[in-house]
Amino acid sequence: MVRASASDPVATTTLIGDLLFTCANIFGWLTKRLRMMTFESHSAAETVAFGERLARDLKPGDAVALHGELGAGKTCLVKGIARGLGITQDVTSPTFTIVHEYRGGRLPLVHVDLYRLDAPQDAAEIGIEDYFCSEVVTVIEWAEKIAPLLPRRAIHVRMELRGENERTIVVS
Ligand SMILES: Nc1ncnc2c1ncn2[C@@H]1O[C@H](COP(=O)(O)OP(=O)(O)O)[C@@H](O)[C@H]1O
Ligand SMILES: [Mg+2]
Repeated sequence: MVRASASDPVATTTLIGDLLFTCANIFGWLTKRLRMMTFESHSAAETVAFGERLARDLKPGDAVALHGELGAGKTCLVKGIARGLGITQDVTSPTFTIVHEYRGGRLPLVHVDLYRLDAPQDAAEIGIEDYFCSEVVTVIEWAEKIAPLLPRRAIHVRMELRGENERTIVVS
């Protein structure tokens, strides 16, 4: 049996490699935690205002994945994001269209609502991944339905219904 010792250069290199890998993982986890932000909303207007603030930091190619049950306020937040981007059109819940595009703001906004999506491959067919490589901001309701297709850098927003007008919003 070969025993690794500190004087063995191969074992030492492996050890340093493992240490660096662990450090990188801890660093990644920490930055993700630091990026995490929780907001307590007490009205639809507050959620819209929060969306407006969120929009300030959005860049071309950003994807915002929205999670939360029906009535959690996802569309409400999209209205705020649109407003924050300077889009004057009213954002509505797409009834049968899955994708709505809004132009005229600082950046184009693509609003995707996957509520009626049955299979993830349907989203792949409509070319959802192309939006992530383009100059638009894509905001996706029911994003968990296409989890494997989402870019790694996606901003996740989790919305929880706490009461009639109370919502907890966690951004990570
Ligand atoms: N704090 C709040 N944030 C967002 N929506 C709220 C809030 N309080 C009450 N509401 C109401 O909840 C509903 C949220 O609807 P919507 O945004 O369409 O949800 P979702 O898209 O998640 O299904 C709206 O009728 C809105 O007026
Ligand atoms: Mg909605």
